[in-house]
Amino acid sequence: MSAAICIRGARVIDPASGEDSVRDLFIRDGLIAGAPETPPDGAVTLEGAGLVASPGFIDLHAHLREPGFEDKESIETGTAAAAAGGFTTVCAMPNTSPAIDSAAVVEFIARRAREAGPVRVLAFGAVSKGRAGLELTDMEELARAGVVGFTDDGSPVATGRLMQAALLYAGELGLPVMDHCEDHSITAGLGINEGPTASRLGLAGYPSAGEESIIARDIALLSLVGGRFHAAHVSTAGGVEMIRAAKRRGLAVTAEVTPHHLTMTDEWALGAGAATAGVAAPLTAAAYDARAKVSPPLRSAADRDALAEGLRDGTLDAVATDHAPHTFGDKAVPFDEAAVGLSGLETAFGSLMSLVRVGALDLPALIARLTVGPASVLGERFAGLASLAVGSPADVVLFDPDERWEVDASRFASKGKNTPLDGLTLQGRVKATIAGGEIAFGGPAR
Ligand code: DOR
Repeated sequence: MSAAICIRGARVIDPASGEDSVRDLFIRDGLIAGAPETPPDGAVTLEGAGLVASPGFIDLHAHLREPGFEDKESIETGTAAAAAGGFTTVCAMPNTSPAIDSAAVVEFIARRAREAGPVRVLAFGAVSKGRAGLELTDMEELARAGVVGFTDDGSPVATGRLMQAALLYAGELGLPVMDHCEDHSITAGLGINEGPTASRLGLAGYPSAGEESIIARDIALLSLVGGRFHAAHVSTAGGVEMIRAAKRRGLAVTAEVTPHHLTMTDEWALGAGAATAGVAAPLTAAAYDARAKVSPPLRSAADRDALAEGLRDGTLDAVATDHAPHTFGDKAVPFDEAAVGLSGLETAFGSLMSLVRVGALDLPALIARLTVGPASVLGERFAGLASLAVGSPADVVLFDPDERWEVDASRFASKGKNTPLDGLTLQGRVKATIAGGEIAFGGPAR
């Protein structure tokens, strides 16, 4: 049984209820509790003065790599990274080996997650067997095993016909289809946004249309057959506009955006500092920075700003990390050959706080997009994970919105040290993470 916990005198922000007030927050028997008449024996006290307490963050999109790619990450290290980043729930993507395409793999992941600790791991099942894009998985079997949605992430749902069937079947099961919207016939081999930075580096660019054409396809199919479509890691201004229009039409579309697409641009491929040096500055040895290679690619400043506006106005329901840990060797190759993705769980919150400081959205709204937003994508049965109401599961994060800290990837809990933020300073730091009433990160000893 977990100990009782009291977080004393924190600013409690609970977007589910609209609360924003300074008070004590109590946890008992794994649940949010009301104020006790006398402090329970053995209660742990966390000093909250100057800190913010909110529901733990929910990540709709993380690559935990197990089974199959434990050299990059394991469920144990991935959930430790989640806890360090303030996440109490992470959704595991199915581009594992084997893929999450059978009940056996779903059950394996659930067992490994229980062994790893209190952070909740929810699995997305694959849309197609082996993620090969040919034949639908047994979605009913996967739903019974507990998946929270379907995706072939890492790859798009390969054809319109398959997406149509997936929306129909998953819709019957009440689950969303998350699509990695990318037309491989346009984007194969392209690792950087089409634009001046790609030209400067002499690299062929991945156009926005390579993403938007599939968002358009999926919206058209959604209006044809129903179901629920969730757009993964939207990265373009045009994509935001299409989703905004589809929502206005009342379609069951939701969308997520990553911290990196909200805070970085394609110029990060020029290497740290180069983005501010101006276009006339010569390329340095830091150029072709493969740590800034992600899929979809980092886009232009105009795209980045449209994403922030989409997040603010609710077109984009959730921030999701697309945490994509890779080994050193996966990235220590020419830019064109490097693996896509960055290790994002531990820097997400510090990165996102920059949006609050520039006034793109306020702190309660940011927390909402990390809690109630993703919970609503998962469905009503997960609402309690994004609430501080008495009786809800005690998933709580305690953070300092102002603390400055230097990113040192070598000290990440994640095996993935691949981030262009390494060595840079972020402002906003997670101090403690409580999942299911257990301290998963930080706490009194720190
Ligand atoms: O950057 C990415 N990395 N995007 C994806 O869609 C896949 C992911 C990965 O698995 O490494």
